[in-house]
Amino acid sequence: MAFVIDGKKISTEIKDETKEKVAQLKAQGKEISLAVVQVGDNPASCVYVRNKKKACEYVGIKSVSHELPEETTEAELLDLIDKLNNDDSINGILVQLPLPAHMDENKVIDAISPYKDVDGFHLMNVGALSTGQQGFISCTPYGIIQLLKRSNIDIAGKHCVVIGRSNIVGKPMSMLLLRENGTVTIVHSKTQNMKEITKQADILVVAIGKPKFVDDTYVKEGAVVIDVGINRDENNKICGDVDYDKVFDKVSAITPVPGGVGPMTIAMLMNNCLEAATKIQK
Ligand code: GUN
Repeated sequence: MAFVIDGKKISTEIKDETKEKVAQLKAQGKEISLAVVQVGDNPASCVYVRNKKKACEYVGIKSVSHELPEETTEAELLDLIDKLNNDDSINGILVQLPLPAHMDENKVIDAISPYKDVDGFHLMNVGALSTGQQGFISCTPYGIIQLLKRSNIDIAGKHCVVIGRSNIVGKPMSMLLLRENGTVTIVHSKTQNMKEITKQADILVVAIGKPKFVDDTYVKEGAVVIDVGINRDENNKICGDVDYDKVFDKVSAITPVPGGVGPMTIAMLMNNCLEAATKIQK
């Protein structure tokens, strides 16, 4: 029987803490603004962007929408980013990914001022995380650290295995777990003996993007399992990268899908917007 880590509850706690600090700033006459840029109308992006704007409204952050057509050129997008970088009334800039195929995603991300890069994707912020310096931390892995800490799960000295090596989750997750003094192993699609490694994990973070990929044969008795996946199963029901029912009786704690990692990403985005207006120094 596992302890179910309630991401919805913990994300609400974080948003409420942020909301209080945002209100204090407002009382001093400082309003926080997030520019939300979406190019095209990818259906998943529309849902994410809508939820991000809703969270802004909840915590009292002003969201300023820029909805650009699919045919927007890279130069036009870079021009908008330049304007937002130089606009003192904008604290954070979020460009929703993926971008249309005719744009160079890395070029666009690195055009965002690192001091307004609330996603933590800019090279300078990635470098800061890798070298233990202050910067914005990518929201999903940052949210996972909060889930563990607020559930009183120790990371220091634990063997943490991360399945997946994406720039958004796997790589920054590994860096954060290392920063928390975990012993970190990354496995991925080309790893030859994946199960042998994942079965050693005290904390297993799964971000591989394959529905119900991890079953009980991948996990050690008593492990903590964090499921980053959002997929549809054979019945079109939302499911994670972990076969929840199969691992539930073997593990000590697990995040559900939905209601685990998902809500944390947006809560940490709100936290990063607050940091953009207060902590991050140019
Ligand atoms: N697309 C999928 N996840 C994210 C995210 O966290 N930030 C942005 N900007 N785009 C995404």
